[in-house]
Amino acid sequence: MDKKYKSIVVLTGAGISAESGLATFRSSNGLWNNHRVEDVATIEAFQRNPEFVHDFYNQMKPELLAAKPNPAHLALTKLQDNYPTPVSIITQNVDTLHEKAKSRNINHIHGQINQAVCLNCGHVLETWNDVTTETVCPQCSVAGMMKPNIVFFGENLLYMDKVERILASCDLFISVGTSGVVFPAAAFVQTAKLYGAETYEFNLEKTSNNFYFDHHIFGKAGETLPPFIDELLA
Ligand code: OAD
Repeated sequence: MDKKYKSIVVLTGAGISAESGLATFRSSNGLWNNHRVEDVATIEAFQRNPEFVHDFYNQMKPELLAAKPNPAHLALTKLQDNYPTPVSIITQNVDTLHEKAKSRNINHIHGQINQAVCLNCGHVLETWNDVTTETVCPQCSVAGMMKPNIVFFGENLLYMDKVERILASCDLFISVGTSGVVFPAAAFVQTAKLYGAETYEFNLEKTSNNFYFDHHIFGKAGETLPPFIDELLA
């Protein structure tokens, strides 16, 4: 392939981390570590029972801290390191496997497991330690106002101004391991396509978004993405 693209955007979902041993959402019947989304991932749940919600995310941390990037994450870093024009990553994943793979330009639109945000002053605390209803914000010194920096249903996604900009200006859009059922991320392919991008989907199967994809590459991302990236770099 020619190195013809002026700007590349890669959207990733839980499927890219599956080969690192992390469960996807839809494969668990929409349950998140055996919990209903309404009990652990809505702002109402957090207001109702913040201890429970904090515990839930604290319990996820050791597994996500131990997880290692797989060849799909590493291939994206290789692309960023070697492609002559910008490559941005938009991830729905709260794991930090793109960071561990040493990628850059990562936009965590659904937040990060290793962060908490102070509802009093907006400070974002980065930590792999437990965050509780007692945690004191290091910036404003108020206790009990930290919320996991996970975008709950009913909240706005993070970094959307930037995301809209890069989607509108990219000419190659690659989606990896996302089911395309959770909006607004599910509509990113449509935006990119509307602005003229060529669009690729890497997934085990066709998703609900398949209408907007020019190309489908089926299989495990850890096996299909590295050769595709090598082709882009050839
Ligand atoms: P899903 O669990 O909905 O979808 C994972 C997708 O990855 C499916 O389409 C699988 O077919 C595909 N897949 C699984 N293993 C794969 C592999 N090895 N290689 C390639 N594809 C593979 O996960 P997301 O689309 O990321 O929200 O879910 C979107 C959001 O729903 C999540 O970010 C989460 C959840 O509510 C928040 O955390 C706020």
